Amino acid sequence: ASTLGAAAAQSGRYFGTAISAGKLGDSAYTTIAGREFTMVTPENEMKIDATEPQQGRFNFTAGDQVYNWAVQHGMQVRGHTLAWHSQQPGWMQSLSGSALRQAMINHINGVMAHYKGKLAYWDVVNEAFADGGSGGRRDSNLQRTGNDWIEVAFRTARAADPNVKLCYNDYNIEDWSAAKTQGVYTMVKDFKSRGVPIDCVGFQSHFNSGDPYKSNFRTTLQNFAALGVDVAITELDIQGASATTYANVTNDCLAVSRCVGFTVWGVRDSDSWRSGDTPLLFDGNGNKKPAYTSVLGAL
Ligand code: XIL
Repeated sequence: ASTLGAAAAQSGRYFGTAISAGKLGDSAYTTIAGREFTMVTPENEMKIDATEPQQGRFNFTAGDQVYNWAVQHGMQVRGHTLAWHSQQPGWMQSLSGSALRQAMINHINGVMAHYKGKLAYWDVVNEAFADGGSGGRRDSNLQRTGNDWIEVAFRTARAADPNVKLCYNDYNIEDWSAAKTQGVYTMVKDFKSRGVPIDCVGFQSHFNSGDPYKSNFRTTLQNFAALGVDVAITELDIQGASATTYANVTNDCLAVSRCVGFTVWGVRDSDSWRSGDTPLLFDGNGNKKPAYTSVLGAL
């Protein structure tokens, strides 16, 4: 195969990227993205501040731009994200308690109704666990509404669209020995044992010198999959874009039958949220980097 999407499809997987609505007029960007990828995550356009900028007034203009571009290019879409402590609109940041709980439920219902039946995956809850050694929840206005907020979000999501796969998504949960990884694993195990609807776990995989790739990532993917959820690499970027590390991540997913696909967090280095790290598969001129060849060869 000569593209990432076609190569991943050889084993029944997808290869996706984050897409920004504001770049859809850049033909160098859309040429690469349209050729290489089979899954799209809107980089910011389906976040809470974008879809419900004022309480109860939904705006799907930018989200639909990305969605429509993806569908026109034969790609599937991963919704990102319904409940998160970050990129909340001002009105939500100032809410707490039962008002915030109800606003979260209303937000999930409003956004999922608009995209009902259209998406492959939803990141229902993003980044709810704390960094460091506690293995516990991240403090946030959502967490302060009660520890059951994640479960409520997933139950609400299942009722709103029973056909989309519902995912928990986080970063720094790739290392099996990390307390944060164990905290998320314990939650997913509990959800599966109690019938809380969860279908998948997304591993963002933003690797850098502070949080490097470790070879036990494959163990982590296997152990989560053994709980009965799909797993996916959802926001991959690697500081410096080592071809070897990109191949290792690719092989880790390929080794796990329930690892359903890959998403890199942007097209060219110049599109990256951390462009200074040159972490992606294409350079700023749209040329394929050694990491691209490495991934394509591993798939
Ligand atoms: C980032 C986007 O790439 C940036 O454009 C934005 O300014 C901030 O958010 N984890 C996530 C993504 O789940 O939504 C984040 O995306 C990167 C970290």
